[in-house]
Amino acid sequence: MVLTGAGISAESGIRTFRGSDGLWEEHRIEEVATPQAFARHPALVYRFYNERRQQLLSDTVQPNAAHHALARLEREYKGTVNIVTQNVDNLHERAGSHKLIHMHGELLKSRCVSCGDVAAGVVTLDQHDQCRVCNHRGVLRPHIVWFGEVPFQMEEIAELLAHCTLFISIGTSGNVYPAAGFAKIAAESGARTLELNLEASSTPGNFDEARYGPAGTIVPLVVDELTGSS
Ligand code: OAD
Repeated sequence: MVLTGAGISAESGIRTFRGSDGLWEEHRIEEVATPQAFARHPALVYRFYNERRQQLLSDTVQPNAAHHALARLEREYKGTVNIVTQNVDNLHERAGSHKLIHMHGELLKSRCVSCGDVAAGVVTLDQHDQCRVCNHRGVLRPHIVWFGEVPFQMEEIAELLAHCTLFISIGTSGNVYPAAGFAKIAAESGARTLELNLEASSTPGNFDEARYGPAGTIVPLVVDELTGSS
């Protein structure tokens, strides 16, 4: 089981959340990533995510060596590889990973708060858009899990945590729960735990082993080891 966070996409040109300036693309996270922010300032939140989609769809943002290495791991590893990502970008799937859970949602999807329809292929979204299923207007929101909301597919994630033999965390600071607690749960279920990050996360004690460096360099090396190609 592989848990990924913003650090794996940093070398693709997508900024992490908790960089040294403490801001996410010039905004405090609470200004743009909470249901309260969306209720109070919907135009700001729509604009913010429209900009994030434009960035993701620009030619300069491409999967990097770490995303490609994980796709190779899925193809070549003797056992089953499941990725649970906190990232809302689509770089894992573009690199060729298939067994993938987007626990914090997906940037290129919208959700209707009236009928629940989830639509893919979203580029821009605003308060005037109409739901393709129920036809109501002003009901489409980014398909993103905001602070205070429950992440997606938690039952499947619990199953993976209970049964995985190796848990690898890549590029996550370990500040946001429940994901920050996954390594401990996996370890308690008997898995070996490995952290791959630029620096020690907030929960280094949860890992049997850690390697520090840019994901684009260290993830391919670990995948080589796991697939016997080193
Ligand atoms: P953070 O921004 O909190 O942490 C990113 C981590 O990646 C940090 O520990 C960095 O040191 C590390 N990092 C940076 N560049 C790296 C590189 N090139 N290679 C490897 N590691 C690198 O991001 P997350 O932990 O993913 O939630 O944040 C978790 C959640 O907080 C996000 O999913 C998001 C946010 O609020 C929602 O939007 C719901």
